[in-house]
Amino acid sequence: MKKIVVFTGAGVSAESGLATFRDADGLWAQYRIEDVCTPEALVRNRALVIEFYNKRRKELLTTLPNAAHTAIAELEKHFDVEVVTQNVDDLHERAGSTKVLHLHGELKKLRSERNPELIVPIEGWEQQIDDRAEDGALLRPHIVFFGEAVPMYERAIEIVNRADILIIVGTSLAVYPAASLVRYTSSHAQLFVVDPGEPDCSAVRNPMVHIKEKAGAGVPMLVEKLIANLK
Ligand code: APR
Repeated sequence: MKKIVVFTGAGVSAESGLATFRDADGLWAQYRIEDVCTPEALVRNRALVIEFYNKRRKELLTTLPNAAHTAIAELEKHFDVEVVTQNVDDLHERAGSTKVLHLHGELKKLRSERNPELIVPIEGWEQQIDDRAEDGALLRPHIVFFGEAVPMYERAIEIVNRADILIIVGTSLAVYPAASLVRYTSSHAQLFVVDPGEPDCSAVRNPMVHIKEKAGAGVPMLVEKLIANLK
């Protein structure tokens, strides 16, 4: 069975209503990264950081997967599929994808500030500023902040390296080390990019097909073709 890896960014969730980061109306146009997405921010203005993730978590509760997430889940009926996502939402899982690796953490989890292995699911959307973990340390969002290690990166490289087909959806490929994953495809892998914009594909070595469509239209179209080619 052919192995397909789907590497996604915020664009795959845009048509579900979640803001991307670097589009004109993106999150980084509304907030400064250094105020809400760095370890220093968590020390300097903890309340703002907790509020930023509480707001995104609350929004997620009324957000649904879109046709792109559903089509990616559908692929699993015909291929060996793994999703490597930069997204912290759970829309891939809710659409039915069963193997999802979150490079940058998960909105619906918190972790001990002392022990990064002590990860707990959050009930509802609101983390209280003084919530503590079982080890007594304060809890923090289970999110990889800028400047922090990306623990799942090595695992992601192994996954991408085994892909026969790599589908890149809705990422500007602007953030490292995530963006460098495209360098680790095997020489025979087929690459597809689904994005209405122009992601930075300078690191891409393999021949690539760019489907300049929004994910909600482009991904189902590509999935239909890949399944039809099996017959
Ligand atoms: N369908 C497909 N792609 C879309 C859509 C859509 N409807 N709308 C926007 N896009 C594309 C944009 O053209 C862009 O290429 O999605 C990409 C969004 O890029 P970013 O906003 O930079 O998001 P992402 O690449 O996921 O950011 C990577 O940066 O801030 C950090 O940790 C954060 O995981 C995030 C990382």
